[in-house]
Amino acid sequence: MAQIIDGKAISQAIKDEVKQEVESLSGQGITVTLAVIQVGDNPASTVYVNNKKKACAYTGIRSLSWHLPEDTRQEELLALIGELNGRADVNGILVQLPLPAHIDEDAVIDAISPAKDVDGFHPRSVGALCIGKPGFLPCTPAGIIELLKRSGIEIAGRECVMIGRSNIVGKPMALLLLRENGTVTVAHSRTDKLKEVAGRADILIVATGRAKMITADYVKPGASVIDVGMDRDENNKLCGDVDYESVSRIAGAITPVPGGVGPMTIAMLMKNCLQAARMQAEGGREA
Ligand code: GUN
Repeated sequence: MAQIIDGKAISQAIKDEVKQEVESLSGQGITVTLAVIQVGDNPASTVYVNNKKKACAYTGIRSLSWHLPEDTRQEELLALIGELNGRADVNGILVQLPLPAHIDEDAVIDAISPAKDVDGFHPRSVGALCIGKPGFLPCTPAGIIELLKRSGIEIAGRECVMIGRSNIVGKPMALLLLRENGTVTVAHSRTDKLKEVAGRADILIVATGRAKMITADYVKPGASVIDVGMDRDENNKLCGDVDYESVSRIAGAITPVPGGVGPMTIAMLMKNCLQAARMQAEGGREA
């Protein structure tokens, strides 16, 4: 049976590290602050936003929140972001996605000051990652790197296959694995012979959005398998994109769903808030 990569325990350790550093900054008169904006009442977004606020409370980060109605005009949202960009007592700004269809998500992400972009979604942050400059890292891929490192899984020189090419997970994940000296393949819905491609991986990261799609016949025996999925199975039970039951029998290591990648995303958000506060305290330099 595979080693189970315990995202709950690892995320807890990271939150405890952040908590200590937040306390130490507090001793220097700095209150680390995150502004959280939700537009509308998407039930999943409400759960995520509440979990983010809970993690702030745990780590000692002050959270300020705005819950705007579904019919909020884009200009109003942009005006709020502009105001928060200018507030010296706000270190990080997070706009929960997805936004209602009448709002242009790219315009909203562009409006967030890169110095406060704790989600790592701003084109400036993405560009910095791409060319190896310092900047905020998107939380889910950064969390996966932490999971691998803290589980003793070597990345350098290994075959890494990322299935999925989204802006939030697949693309930045590929760049981060490359930064860690992995040999990286990005596969996606149009990839030919996906089983063969996936089967080469020492580290297989799956973000397809399709419940239990990756079965044991996609996985090389002994591979480390990271499941980014958050789906529902035929019994409406939470599951991932990986068929845990069959894959855990042959993988070397595997993340469960829930309790794998999910909790890491929020822990890394807390880390980014801390980084934002530090950078701003050091004289307004960007991350
Ligand atoms: N919606 C789903 N995941 C995320 C995330 O990491 N950040 C934000 N802002 N919205 C999301």
